[in-house]
Amino acid sequence: MARVAAILVSCVLLLAATSSHGLKYGYYNRRCPPAEFIVRKVVGKAIRQNPGIGAGLIRLAFHDCFVQGCDASVLLDPTPANPRPEKLGPPNFPSLRGFEVIDVAKAALERVCPGKVSCADVVQFAGRDAAFFLSDHKVNYTLPGGRLDGRVSLENETLAFLPPPSFNLSELVDSFRTKGLDVDDLVVLSGSHTIGRSHCSSFSDRIGTPPSDMDAGLAAVLRRRCPANPNFNNDPTVVQDIFTPNRLDNQYYNNVLRRKVLFKSDAALLTSTETARKVVENAAVRGRWERKFARAMVKMAAIEVKTAANGEVRRNCRVVN
Ligand code: HEM
Repeated sequence: MARVAAILVSCVLLLAATSSHGLKYGYYNRRCPPAEFIVRKVVGKAIRQNPGIGAGLIRLAFHDCFVQGCDASVLLDPTPANPRPEKLGPPNFPSLRGFEVIDVAKAALERVCPGKVSCADVVQFAGRDAAFFLSDHKVNYTLPGGRLDGRVSLENETLAFLPPPSFNLSELVDSFRTKGLDVDDLVVLSGSHTIGRSHCSSFSDRIGTPPSDMDAGLAAVLRRRCPANPNFNNDPTVVQDIFTPNRLDNQYYNNVLRRKVLFKSDAALLTSTETARKVVENAAVRGRWERKFARAMVKMAAIEVKTAANGEVRRNCRVVN
């Protein structure tokens, strides 16, 4: 009887260690024990030099997962065979940053355990670690590994799957639903806009005439910082959260409530009672958003992961093997 109970307990533990989609907690424990430690160290060093890079890494994790799944397709450089990869898509170029940090982490991993750690896992671990450091260790979660790297990366898929800042609530909800994420995930993950920066072109439609629902004081500040018609050669950046620009905290929700946010997609969270209630809860209940954010990041990191049939472990994250 005791033996049966012990077997049952081990089965439950085994199931718990295997998350859905074939990803596994502790995936590198035997394959490459220092893997997660190496990524965290590289990310910590990069963030100490420039906290903005941490924001870039969190966004990189999102942009990777929404196009072709979490498969490092966003990292592939143009080649004669594929001159227009995701990286060059308008949502990514020139604003997406953090690629060099992934290169440094991958190079270190290849020295210690060649061919073992996928770029797709490095991207998600790096996003997780950036959240850990920028939240002053408050966002602290384990993430399963085992994603493989894809071989397909197409610029035109970025506009199809990455929501633009001009989206209204129902467009945002649809975009997230297509990727298996729900309204709660949308509200919680949008909280990432409590760090990092934006180019003026991403919100210029909200600071001119006619006035938008943006707070008039913030709109006036932004008009001074941004040209009337930003273009590729003249497109400055501003911080997303004017109060705590480098801290991953729940300040974003207070900003949404005060209409001190940059994008229509941020302001859209107040346009339904369901999402407005979630905004108020995330703003008011201490520690709640950090817990929810961790859970939503784990969920996002499992979108459409590749298997051995359509993936590989790249040697260099910028080119397929
Ligand atoms: C809900 C739909 C979303 C829209 C419409 C959106 C749009 C944008 C835009 C336009 C920017 C500024 C880009 C620039 O001009 O430089 C930005 C920045 C950023 N986004 Fe989002 N985003 C969304 C969701 C997310 C999610 C789900 C995450 C992460 C989980 C995220 C993380 C970030 C971060 C960290 C930055 C700052 C990046 C940096 O400083 O380099 N966003 N987003």
